[in-house]
Amino acid sequence: MKVTVTGGTGFIGQQLVLRLVQRGDSVRILSRRSPSQAKIPGAQIFYGDLCDPETRLENFVDGADVLYHCAGVISDTERMHDVHVQGTDRLLAASQGRIGKWVQLSSVGAYGPVSSGMVTEEWPESPVGVYERTKTESDRLVRAVSDKGAFPAVLLRPSIVYGPDMRNRSLFQLIRMIDRGLFFFIGAPGATVNYVHVANVVEALICCGIDGRANGNTYIISDHRSLEEFVGIIAMALDRPVPHRRIPLPLAHFIAFIGGWIPGFPLTKSRVQAISNRAVYSSGRIQNELDCVFRIGMEQGIRQMVETVKHRRAHDAFR
Ligand SMILES: NC(=O)c1ccc[n+]([C@@H]2O[C@H](COP(=O)([O-])OP(=O)(O)OC[C@H]3O[C@@H](n4cnc5c(N)ncnc54)[C@H](OP(=O)(O)O)[C@@H]3O)[C@@H](O)[C@H]2O)c1
Repeated sequence: MKVTVTGGTGFIGQQLVLRLVQRGDSVRILSRRSPSQAKIPGAQIFYGDLCDPETRLENFVDGADVLYHCAGVISDTERMHDVHVQGTDRLLAASQGRIGKWVQLSSVGAYGPVSSGMVTEEWPESPVGVYERTKTESDRLVRAVSDKGAFPAVLLRPSIVYGPDMRNRSLFQLIRMIDRGLFFFIGAPGATVNYVHVANVVEALICCGIDGRANGNTYIISDHRSLEEFVGIIAMALDRPVPHRRIPLPLAHFIAFIGGWIPGFPLTKSRVQAISNRAVYSSGRIQNELDCVFRIGMEQGIRQMVETVKHRRAHDAFR
């Protein structure tokens, strides 16, 4: 199969490219980086920028059976509209008549901040925040072009994607807090965590790309555990006692408020929300409709993360 990948040098995209190459697909990736930084064994690099009118995106996409659109901006809000909305718009214009199918790496952020309940693909879109709004706008552009018959499209919406190379440090920080005995629960038991291992996101993307039954659909991909189970898995992998201290929610909000004045204070307002959240994102639809094999369970994935933390600690101590 001929495939093209935007974001193929990123945390998720790079794992996708390696897996596609391993499958024997002919892979072309788009990158703004220098040749030495963008090199991925087995993949052809097309140097360019989604936002640069000089980049001939027609040449990048031409002849692809599947285009995986994984480029995105995670933290620089100033660039999000340009990349997610205008960049996607340019890529869509270039792709019409030139590709067989579009697979879009979206986000559960499209459903907005949900604090409880089971979120499925039927949940109404109500994104809040620049990242979430621009990602959802990108999805709407893709659906509109696909609905006009240009090509079939599939949207894949992961929750937080984790893996040893993840750029978001919050899971590593949680592991270190549990390791140092500094972790405490907030509020009543039963909060949930929603994470998905990068290898499972890659399998889901490929399923969406090769399975015609996925065409026109949106799929959530996520794994979840209660916070107590999740923390227990980490503590066991670290060979540390399972934490049991718990503070009331109003006290946590107060500490986060006071800590807000201290640069780098670990308990922020958004972290309090994250570790007292009770929403669950359901992967039921993709598991029932497609033949995806999700290779990494939460226990195995978390053990891998803990091993990464231990390895880095040993490496730092050695230096
Ligand atoms: N990480 C998560 O937890 C998570 C969760 C849900 C959804 N997602 C979505 O998954 C996608 C990938 O996330 P990630 O964590 O892998 O991100 P990442 O590691 O920050 O990688 C971003 C990628 O986007 C490319 N890119 C950015 N601006 C570009 C531009 N103007 N032109 C061309 N390429 C551009 C970069 O390519 P170069 O630097 O090589 O040009 C890089 O490959 C994003 O769309 C994100 O919204 C991520």
